[in-house]
Amino acid sequence: RTIHILNGPNLNLLGTREPGVYGTATLADVEQRCADVATALGCRAECRQSNHEGRLVDWLQEIGREVAEGRSIGVVLNPGAYTHTSVAIRDAIAGAQVPVVEIHVSNVHAREEFRRHSYVTPVARGVIAGLGPIGYELAIRALVEG
Ligand code: DQA
Repeated sequence: RTIHILNGPNLNLLGTREPGVYGTATLADVEQRCADVATALGCRAECRQSNHEGRLVDWLQEIGREVAEGRSIGVVLNPGAYTHTSVAIRDAIAGAQVPVVEIHVSNVHAREEFRRHSYVTPVARGVIAGLGPIGYELAIRALVEG
């Protein structure tokens, strides 16, 4: 079965983007680790990134169909800034009934006030924030074993 790793806007810049906040691991590094962890747990990681809200919605709907057919376990989702703005992503998760673990590389609660609210959290299984890229591995483990 497949586990999907979806990264939203600006996460393609991981490694060079505000390294003091997000660290020096690149998105390619993170995705490689995800693939390795998924393989070790007996499944397959499919990793995608988009800067476009509608594309993330399309992917969530598609994954919802895969979950319904038993082909996918769910999604590790870092919605980036859409976390704090996107009713559309929230509705896609609720509508497609996709198991989602929300993940943030940085500790969103220790930063600006506007990062403390997430539209995604109420429809997520759980949230991991502030642990760096290891959060993705923990989220995969939670979905596969949980
Ligand atoms: C982020 C936190 C968001 O507030 C921010 O807009 C991002 C990345 C994180 O991984 O820490 O783009 O989701």
